[in-house]
Amino acid sequence: MSDMAKLELDGKTIELPIITGTENEKAIDIRALRAQTGYVTLDNGFMNTGSCESKITFLNGEKGILRYRGYPIEQIAEQSNFVEVAYLLNFGKLPNQKELDFFNEKIASFATLPEGITKIIDQFPTNSHPMGVVSAVTSSLSAFYPEFLKTPLTDVDRERAIAQLLAQVKIIAAYFYRRTVGKNPHRSHPSLGYASDFLNMMFYEEGYEVDPEVAKALDVLLMLHADHEQNCSTSAVRLIGSSQANIFATISGGIDALWGQLHGGANQRVLEMLEAIQEDGRGYKKFIEKAKDKNDSFRLMGFGHRVYKNFDPRAKIIKKACDTILERLNIQDPLLDIARGLEEEARKDSYFVDRNLYPNVDFYSGIIYKALGIPTNMFTVMFVLGRLPGWMAQWKEMREDPTLKISRPRQIYTGENLREFTNIADR
Ligand code: SDX
Repeated sequence: MSDMAKLELDGKTIELPIITGTENEKAIDIRALRAQTGYVTLDNGFMNTGSCESKITFLNGEKGILRYRGYPIEQIAEQSNFVEVAYLLNFGKLPNQKELDFFNEKIASFATLPEGITKIIDQFPTNSHPMGVVSAVTSSLSAFYPEFLKTPLTDVDRERAIAQLLAQVKIIAAYFYRRTVGKNPHRSHPSLGYASDFLNMMFYEEGYEVDPEVAKALDVLLMLHADHEQNCSTSAVRLIGSSQANIFATISGGIDALWGQLHGGANQRVLEMLEAIQEDGRGYKKFIEKAKDKNDSFRLMGFGHRVYKNFDPRAKIIKKACDTILERLNIQDPLLDIARGLEEEARKDSYFVDRNLYPNVDFYSGIIYKALGIPTNMFTVMFVLGRLPGWMAQWKEMREDPTLKISRPRQIYTGENLREFTNIADR
């Protein structure tokens, strides 16, 4: 098979290289297109455009495959833990015990927020959406760690910055949550382990003990959210990072992109949708019809995916985990039955079947977060905590690329042609 694509254009034949990935994905390399033809390509929403080559995560949307550095997500969820996954994504291999201990120590060295940061968090009204707080405060870290603003960052500083954000974003989230419930912050105890430390900071009170099963369920959710190749927020991180903005500004931009309801914000909207169905009391039909109605902006939140045209492998794992954790906590959540029924109903409906709309990672995750006691408006913050290592791994991979260029897409102009400016008296 030829490794060149031929393009007939204005009576000329242009040849463009074909690139083949390690999983046999194919791309036409159009880097020389404009110089050779004056043409650019146009692809609204980048549905057919590869933005980079990456060694971090592989997805196959048709087959519902997800792998982190080659390891299947099913094995990762079963056998690994979140900090180990963060190491794998960022450094390309599973750590041995010594490497993992050293990484954990580095994370633990950032277990206290700078005082100025806690003062900034204290300024936010307690009814602020936590995503806005976490994004703003993450960016504010740049004022307290000037060493991470140097460009280029040394490898040591880059690794320290990764450990610091892994340590501190979860503290920022828990600190603000405690303020919203009128409780004093509870300090981080990294020796508890990532998920247990977070739960402890969130819910600590006299006599509180983190349930290891609950911590394990959270750790699995964090692993499942850790990376997902060039999704919207990761693409935002790569775009911002390509200008050599500092890591705090870059990650803050990723948090903001994730907040959208079509992306990470969907997990909060799913729970609100399930509660609305419960409230309505007339079953799913009305909501299914609304989702199908082109004149209605309502969508079945947690359904559909740009890449997966099959079951999202993460949704399968989370759906199964729902049973385990609800049983463990002895919780009967009617919303789980509603979610299951909605999925069953939708999967029988040709509108959803014809469009390959399956539950995605956000459809069932909120049921578990709710069971763990996480408030609905913090569900997307949980997605941030999970995605953090993936964003940083993608940022690191991009910044380590010696051929890195600032991202600057082109456009096709469809506005007014040349016209003379007129004074206001003549308009
Ligand atoms: C995440 O990219 C990633 O990897 C993201 C993510 C990650 O880990 O980073 O996986 C996390 O963001 C998951 C997605 C969470 N969002 C939602 O659950 C919101 C609901 N889903 C949709 O809005 C939608 O499915 C998207 C945004 C997820 C994908 O949108 P696309 O690829 O742009 O698809 P589309 O909007 O062009 O839809 C194709 C058709 C349209 O109908 P037609 O014009 O062909 O008639 O399917 C319909 C859409 O109207 N459709 C839906 C639907 N999703 C798509 N109709 C009703 N309900 C839905 N949920």
